[in-house]
Amino acid sequence: MNDLDKLHKQACDKIKHAKTLQSLQELKAEILGKAGSFGQMLREVGKLPRDVRKTRGAELNQVKNAIESAFELANQALQNELVQQELARSRYDVTLPGRRTVWGAMHPLRLIELEAIHCLTALGFQVADGPQLEHDWYNFEALNIPENHPARDMHDTFFVAPRIVLRTHTSNVQIRTMVQQKPPVRIIAPGMVYRRDEVDPTHSPVFHQIEGLWVDDKVTFADMKGVLHRFISYLFKKEVRVRFRPSYFPFTEPSCEMDFGCVLCEGTLTTCRVCRGRGWLEIAGAGMVDPAVLESVGYDPEAVQGFAFGAGIERIAMLRFLIDDIRLFYDNDVRFLQQFRGQGF
Ligand code: FA5
Repeated sequence: MNDLDKLHKQACDKIKHAKTLQSLQELKAEILGKAGSFGQMLREVGKLPRDVRKTRGAELNQVKNAIESAFELANQALQNELVQQELARSRYDVTLPGRRTVWGAMHPLRLIELEAIHCLTALGFQVADGPQLEHDWYNFEALNIPENHPARDMHDTFFVAPRIVLRTHTSNVQIRTMVQQKPPVRIIAPGMVYRRDEVDPTHSPVFHQIEGLWVDDKVTFADMKGVLHRFISYLFKKEVRVRFRPSYFPFTEPSCEMDFGCVLCEGTLTTCRVCRGRGWLEIAGAGMVDPAVLESVGYDPEAVQGFAFGAGIERIAMLRFLIDDIRLFYDNDVRFLQQFRGQGF
């Protein structure tokens, strides 16, 4: 066995015993590197007479290639081993029963709010927003409700600071929009509002409203009736009868309440649990924007006119889903909430 065969054999023996990829790498540097035995042999080739040098060089190359192939094979074997170990560790048990994904459901109030937005934006309204912590001027004064006006009693207000309130209605967004924007204005404003109301089956101190406002040069009460009729029919998924009853709001003149024919009994049942035999249900306050309000935001009441309305989202949701207690919306009982899965859009 010549020195090259010996080198080859020794290298193969050592490679066989390398247990990790790192030790294999170190071994390769040791055997084939410049400082290793092979490097030494290579350096000695240069000192040989010319005629022997060529043959010796070819032999060295041959051995080098053989050793490199041995390294490559060992490298692959070690890598395969690692993959097998990893697979054994994270093996999937395909016989285990699957885990069921729990699907959430959209909250019924959000569902009604989104449907309301969907319907009214299709009629050309744009969504506007305003703060829930509001200055008295936007919540009351600019809406023609000066301090000490008896109409303030209609809204039992949470005061946060002397002139700062938690907004009692979404009508503050009417003012905020008109102050910033010249007519025409056609907006809706959904959002949370706050009143010091006692909690009972139909009242909550925090609830949701959606406001509508359309001001232009020729917007009439008839436009308002058309929009509100479409709006309510869309929300109840059928042609709903509506009526407009005279009412009073300081910021609209004339003012009205919009009622709609009971969606459950259509006025035929004296014991109906939804309308209690009245046949009609109140759904929104509305009216033509009072000229004093237009003036307070710098509009000319001789040049523009329009209507506004405000509806309670909870009350609509209660009638749409026949829910008899407003508190159910806020309890976060998943058994209640899951009933609305797949409803709406
Ligand atoms: C207003 O808040 C007026 N800003 C509406 C309006 C806007 C009129 C624009 C004219 C023009 P009202 O106080 O009636 O009006 O409230 C409107 C709706 O909010 C009611 O019809 C009712 O559905 C709902 N609502 C009122 N108080 C509560 C409460 N405590 N809990 C739940 N819903 C309520």
